[in-house]
Amino acid sequence: MSNVKKPKNRPSNANFSSGPCAKRPGWTPDILSNALVGRSHRSNPGKRRIQEVIDKTRLVLEIPENYRIGIVAGSDTGAVETALWSMLGARGVDMLQWESFGKGWVGDVIDQLNLKDIKELKAEYGKLPNLKDVDFARDVVFTWNGTTSGVRVPNADWIPDDREGLTICDATSAAFAMRLTWSKLDVTTYSWQKVMGGEAQHGILVLSPRAVERLESYTPAWPLPKIFRLTSGKKLNETIFKAATINTPSMLCIEDALDGLNWAISIGGLKALIKRSEENLAELTRWIENSKDIEFLAEDPETRSCTSVCLKITADWFLKLNNKKRIDASKRIVELLDEEKVAYDIGSYRDAPPGLRIWSGATIENSNLKALTPWIDWALVEVSLEYEA
Ligand SMILES: Cc1ncc(COP(=O)(O)O)c(C=O)c1O
Repeated sequence: MSNVKKPKNRPSNANFSSGPCAKRPGWTPDILSNALVGRSHRSNPGKRRIQEVIDKTRLVLEIPENYRIGIVAGSDTGAVETALWSMLGARGVDMLQWESFGKGWVGDVIDQLNLKDIKELKAEYGKLPNLKDVDFARDVVFTWNGTTSGVRVPNADWIPDDREGLTICDATSAAFAMRLTWSKLDVTTYSWQKVMGGEAQHGILVLSPRAVERLESYTPAWPLPKIFRLTSGKKLNETIFKAATINTPSMLCIEDALDGLNWAISIGGLKALIKRSEENLAELTRWIENSKDIEFLAEDPETRSCTSVCLKITADWFLKLNNKKRIDASKRIVELLDEEKVAYDIGSYRDAPPGLRIWSGATIENSNLKALTPWIDWALVEVSLEYEA
C-alpha cells in the first residue's frame, strides 16, 4: 500500500449528505427574513406565497399546464403514501424495487393495504430490474432514482404512452437533477430537502389528468385519513392544488423552497440544474476510473445516478475482510473524513452494501467534489493501516 499524503485543500462546504442535502451556493439564513411568519397561510399574502412556489415549480420542472401540483404533509413519504392509499386497488400493481425505498413501498402495499394482486420486479443493489417485464395494463410503482444504491432508470422510454394503468413515481432524488418525462408519469412525488437543498417535511405531489380521473372514479376499500384525502364527494379537491394546502405548512419552509426555485431560475432553470449534477457525476467518474480502490455500486453506466453516487470499496485489504469488518472499516473512513471536516454523512445507507454515498445534486459545487476525492484516497490508506497492522 503506497503512502498517500494528507491533502491540504479542503472543500469549502463539507455537506455531502443525501438528505437533507446541501443548501444552494450562497444560501444564508437571511433569505428567510421575508418569510410570512406569524401570518395565516390562508391569508391573501400567505396564499400568494404558496401559489408562487407552485407556479415556479411548474416553470422550473417544465410541468404541463394540465398537471396539478400540490404541497402535502410528510415530505416525500407523505406524498407517496397519499398516492398509494388514494389510488391503488383499482387494478393489479407491478412494483419495482432495487433498493431500500422501493422495497419499503412494496412492504406498505402488501402489509398495510393488504393488496393481493401485486407483482414484484426486484433487483439486487447495483442493478435495475428488467424494465421490459413491466405490465402497463396494471398500475406501476417505481423509484426514478434509487437513493440508497445510486441506480436510476436511464429514461422513461420503457413506459408506453398508451398505458392502461397509472405510473406512480417516487422521484425525490431525481427531480431537479434528471429530466422527468411528464407524459410518462401519472403521479410524481418528491421532497424539498433533496436536490434543491430545501427544508424537509413538505412533499410535492404532481398529478396527470389520468391520475385525477382515477381519483374521481375510484374509491378505495379502506378509510383514508384526512391528511391523504384529495377528493371531496368524488371530485378532486382542486383547492389543494391552488395553494389551499390540506393542513398548515411552515411559512419558513415555503420561503426556503421559493429561494431554491429563484436560484434555479437565476442560473438557467432545469437545464442548468441537470448540467451541474451531471458534471458532478463526471467529476466523480474521472476519479473512480483512475482508482483501483473504489468502484460504482451501479453496474451499468447508463443507470448511474448523478445525485446519490454510491460506491463500493474494492481495495485488496478491504476485500479480504469479512462483512462485519467491512462495515466497521467503512464507518472508520466516514468518521475520519468527518473528523477532518471534509465530508459529513457519506456512509452508505444502513441496508446497502458497506461503502460510501456522496451526494452530487445541483447544490453541490464541482470544486468541492474535486477537493473531496483526494481526501477519500487518503482516508482509505489511513484506515487500511489499522486493518493491516
Ligand atoms: C427514494 C426515496 N424515497 C423516499 C424517501 C423519503 O423521503 P422523506 O424523508 O423526504 O419522506 C427518500 C429519502 O431519502 C428517498 O431517497
